[in-house]
Amino acid sequence: MNKKKVISDFPKSFYKSKKVFVRVDFNVPINIETDSIREDYRIRRAIPTIDYLIDAGAKVILGSHLGRPKGKVVKNLSLQIVSKRLSELIDKEVVFVEDFIESKLAEKLDNLPNGSVIMLENLRFHKEETDNDSKFSSSLAKLADVYVNEAFGTSHREHCSTHGMAKDFENKISGFLVDKELSFVSKMMKKPEHPFLVIIGGSKIKDKISALGNLLDSADKILVGGGAAYTFLKAQGVSIGKSIYEEEMLEWVQDVYVKYKDKIVLPIDHVISQTLDKTSQSLITDVDIPKDYMALDIGPKTIELFNSIIKGPGYIFWNGPMGVFEFKQYSSGTIHIARAVALATWRGATSVVGGGETIAAIRKAEVLESEISHMSTGGGALLEYLGGGNLPGIEILD
Ligand code: 3PG
Repeated sequence: MNKKKVISDFPKSFYKSKKVFVRVDFNVPINIETDSIREDYRIRRAIPTIDYLIDAGAKVILGSHLGRPKGKVVKNLSLQIVSKRLSELIDKEVVFVEDFIESKLAEKLDNLPNGSVIMLENLRFHKEETDNDSKFSSSLAKLADVYVNEAFGTSHREHCSTHGMAKDFENKISGFLVDKELSFVSKMMKKPEHPFLVIIGGSKIKDKISALGNLLDSADKILVGGGAAYTFLKAQGVSIGKSIYEEEMLEWVQDVYVKYKDKIVLPIDHVISQTLDKTSQSLITDVDIPKDYMALDIGPKTIELFNSIIKGPGYIFWNGPMGVFEFKQYSSGTIHIARAVALATWRGATSVVGGGETIAAIRKAEVLESEISHMSTGGGALLEYLGGGNLPGIEILD
C-alpha cells in the first residue's frame, strides 16, 4: 500500500476555520453495570490528532461507532459516555450531538468558535452507515471541508464514515495514529529486523490464518499458545482432553507444521482443569491431557521455554493471550509473556502488540504502554492487513 498523506503534511494554517470530520474508532469496552469505560486506550490514541486540529483552529467533528446496534438506538451503546471521557482527557468541552442528520447541525457548526470539538452520536444507530448508503454518506460529508481517518481499527469496513463519505472530499488524509499503525505494520510485512518472532495465542486460529500464512516465511520463530496451540497439538496426535481446538483447521495446521517444524514452538506443559470458572482447581501436566481435563494456560516449563526465545533485539509481533488470563489461576502464562516482550523491548527489540485482548493482558501484567514499541488499536483490521487483505478506509485516502 502506498504511503498516505498525514494531517501534518499541511501547514496548520490550512485547517484554520475549516470543519474537519475525523472518523475515530471509539469502540471501547463499556461496563454497563457501573456505566463506565473499562479501557480508554483507543480514545487516548486519537488525542494527538484532535489536539493538532484544535491548535490549528479547526472545528473538529468526531464520528465513531460503538458496538453493533444494527441500525437501532440502543441506550447502552450511546457515545455520550465516551464524549464525557474525551472531554476530561483533553480538558475541553466536547459538544455531543445526538441528532446530526435532521438537525440544522451545519448551521450550528458555523456558529461555533474555531477549535471546538463536536462528537456525533453512534453512527451505527443508522442502518445506512453499515450499508454504505450513498445518501447517508453525502449528508455526513456535507458537514465538513476535510476528511481525516483516525480509525485504523475500523478501516477494514466499507461503511459510510470509513469509505463512502470520504469520496466527496478533495482532501482525505490520515491522522497520526493511522499513520503510525501503517508504518509499524508495513515494516513488519516488508522488512522486519531479525530475529523476527511471532507470538500467536487466543482461542482461534481460523481468524489468523491469512496473517500467519504471510508471516511464516519471514518469521524466525513462531510461538503458539492459548487455544490455538491445541489445534496444533491435536494434529500431532497429542491427547488434548477437552481443550478447545478447531476441527476444520487440523489439516491446514498439519501442513504448516510439516513445512515450518523448525520455526514453530508449541507448549510443552499445560495448566489444566476439569471446569472453567474463577475457583476451579487447576493442575499442571507435561504429558498428554487426561480426557476430562482442558488446558487453560501454558505451564511453567513452557513459560521458561518461551522466555528463552523472547530475548530481543529484533522484531516481535504478539497477538492473542496464552490462556484464560481473566481468571487468576490461568493468567500466569500471558503475564509472563507480556513481561518478556517488555524486557525484550528494553533490550532493543521493536515490539508490536495487537488485538483488544492482548492489550488487556498488557494491562494485567502491569506493563506500561511505553515499554512496548507499538500497541495497535486494530484487532480485525490488523489481521486483515497482515493477511494481505484490502482496507477500504485506507485505500480511499490521498
Ligand atoms: C473493532 O473493535 O474491531 C472495530 O471497532 C470494528 O468493529 P466491528 O467489528 O464491529 O466493525
